Amino acid sequence: MTAPHVDLSVHHRPQAVSDRIAFGFVRVLRFCADTFFAKRYGHRAVVLETVAAVPGMVGATLNHLKCLRRMEDDRGWIKTLMDEAENERMHLMTFIEVSKPTAFERFVVVAVQWVFYLFFFGLYLVSSRTAHRVVGYFEEEAVISYTNYLQEIDEGRSENLPAPALARRYWDLPATATLRDVIEVVRADEAHHRDVNHGFANELAGLPSGPVAACPPHVVLEPIWKSA
Ligand SMILES: [Fe+2]
Ligand SMILES: [Fe+2]
Repeated sequence: MTAPHVDLSVHHRPQAVSDRIAFGFVRVLRFCADTFFAKRYGHRAVVLETVAAVPGMVGATLNHLKCLRRMEDDRGWIKTLMDEAENERMHLMTFIEVSKPTAFERFVVVAVQWVFYLFFFGLYLVSSRTAHRVVGYFEEEAVISYTNYLQEIDEGRSENLPAPALARRYWDLPATATLRDVIEVVRADEAHHRDVNHGFANELAGLPSGPVAACPPHVVLEPIWKSA
């Protein structure tokens, strides 16, 4: 299968003060992740995807409430952000098949979720522009992390397992697909989130939103009543 193309050179150069705060914050998170996980990319993916799936739902919730208060259209933002949250949750469900978190990592996930959800909710209320910029930078780092994970596999340090069945169904991958193929599509998803969130931050700053990398095709998760 041909891997989706990902432009690895995309980086939003911090301009405004809020960009610098967002960039600095993400650099600190990156340092913590590097220290905690080192090169355990499977475990890193599981824990970080539990965090990555939070901002989309927070952004969707707060935009939904804002549109109700202002009685105005959301211009497609709510569905975009909910799709992002869902997509990130599918990343988590995929990587949980590859690496099982330790008891300590599960504890970290619970603790971090409390702190990060409340922090991000507050940040979004104070400055949605900074919040989207944080996610844009977070996704830049995700693209780098998954590029490193691909290198680990290519250089034989991580095993290239068969792709989990759930991932094959979600991205419609062939039966022969491997973990490497899955990481390629996940990385393309992250590049898409990166551009969407930098675009939202730009729009809130009154700047042109810029190009958005295409999201690799995946099945649409249907409401439960449709499959009943
Ligand atoms: Fe992700
Ligand atoms: Fe992402």
